Amino acid sequence: MAAPTIERIGEHLFVNADCVRGAAAHLADGSVDLMVTDPPYGIEGDRLDRHYNRDERFVDDGYVEVDARKYASFSRAWIAQAERVLKPGGQLYVVSGYTNLYDVLGALRKTSLREINHIIWKYNFGVYTSSKFVSSHYHILYYAKPGGRRRFNLQSRFALDQTAADGRSLNYRDREDVWSINREYKPGQRKNKNELPRALLKKILAYSSNEGELVCDFFLGGGSTAAVAIGMNRRFVGFEVSERTFRSRVPELRKIVPGSLLDVPPEAHVVRNRGKSWSAEELEQLQGRFRELHASGATRGAIVATLSAELERGAWAIRKRLRSAGSF
Ligand SMILES: C[S@@+](CC[C@H](N)C(=O)[O-])C[C@H]1O[C@@H](n2cnc3c(N)ncnc32)[C@H](O)[C@@H]1O
Repeated sequence: MAAPTIERIGEHLFVNADCVRGAAAHLADGSVDLMVTDPPYGIEGDRLDRHYNRDERFVDDGYVEVDARKYASFSRAWIAQAERVLKPGGQLYVVSGYTNLYDVLGALRKTSLREINHIIWKYNFGVYTSSKFVSSHYHILYYAKPGGRRRFNLQSRFALDQTAADGRSLNYRDREDVWSINREYKPGQRKNKNELPRALLKKILAYSSNEGELVCDFFLGGGSTAAVAIGMNRRFVGFEVSERTFRSRVPELRKIVPGSLLDVPPEAHVVRNRGKSWSAEELEQLQGRFRELHASGATRGAIVATLSAELERGAWAIRKRLRSAGSF
């Protein structure tokens, strides 16, 4: 068998091979910090074009689908490799449709990997139908390898004290497990059958990796994970079995400017008194200030934000105290 084509872009590695064989040959045990991947969905008859209601002339035709009857063994094989190559504490995000979700979950549960979240990604351009509800979400299975410290950059996108105009916490809202992120609309541009939006990948990489860490995608497709990883100054390694997809998409990644997708992180909010027990004076101050703010006509959100800043405690702790004192 001929050796697979390998492309290097700076320190990033791209291998035109089946991911299971490619990872066995190119990735050491415990070497990857974060894996973000979107395996083929095993949809019989390949109806993704109908699914996305789009002009297929610009869609790469190299996409390799997996026979639905082999989906369970296919999932077990690549997920076992993912488990092997992740560092202890390393993390895995798998994007899955509903059709074969059962097999992906079954394979994950056969490993030592631990479930962190089941995220629902709601997208636009669902399949139009008038006789049932419109299918417009995917599942993102977020797992971690035990044995090491898992990275979760709590304030990478919003500081804990950042609020929206309605007073609600932006940080809390961003960390809810239902994500509404639109697909990219790219009329007239080449694309993979199922490209992930950069906004979704940026969010995952911001929370779950740091600059310089190794990000891996077993199913490169159009290379969106690679593009975001390079743009956010992470190191990258990826695999794609289709020669046609690999040849048409990997050279495009040379155009990505390292670091060009990094956002300035918010200034982290440090809550000095978090977790400390409340003194009698503090409780008195809380009640007194609550009465003043309430009398001034401030909204509940504004009262909590003010008390949280003055007493240097989290909003949740303030609400809990006010509730137990019968103020809220
Ligand atoms: C859902 S697409 C990935 C799309 C990608 N996330 C993007 O944003 O463009 C799945 C890709 O996996 C490739 N593929 C299928 N079987 C594979 C295998 N055994 N190893 C590596 N790649 C494979 C397909 O050719 C396809 O390009």
